[in-house]
Amino acid sequence: MSDKTIKYTGLVPKIKALIDKEIGLVGNLANTSAAIKEEFGFLWVGFYLVEGNELLLGPFQGPVACTRIARGRGVCGKSWEMDQALVVDNVHEFADHIPCSDKANSEIVLPVHDQDSNVKLVMDIDSVDLAAFDDTDVQYLGEIVKEIESLL
Ligand code: SME
Repeated sequence: MSDKTIKYTGLVPKIKALIDKEIGLVGNLANTSAAIKEEFGFLWVGFYLVEGNELLLGPFQGPVACTRIARGRGVCGKSWEMDQALVVDNVHEFADHIPCSDKANSEIVLPVHDQDSNVKLVMDIDSVDLAAFDDTDVQYLGEIVKEIESLL
């Protein structure tokens, strides 16, 4: 088992236990961001919330970030528009990447849906390492996303 898989195998049940339907979305997104960042030490872990035709900054852990992203723009807006997880090995080669920190080199974004399959949020993670994310992250972060979807 890879180091990454071992970490996720511990993290996913921890987040499931952490999520508390009584406290609403903000606290759960904040704790989920914190738990992922603590486990992996990623540069930035957080959420953007769909509001009309934009994504607005939600709970996160890491350096200050841009507050509004139009649908289809950046990695986040593209993931929302395409309704699919995006893995970017080198953000400097992604034509429409929106840089929030000059330390970020790779990124993963996953859409989060409500019960009617509408994208309501995106989960966004930035790493200082190139090519930090792969199918293993898509799989396990997808499990975490499912937990969050149960709140929507
Ligand atoms: N890089 C993102 C913007 C958000 S920050 O990474 C926190 C993008 O291109 O959509």
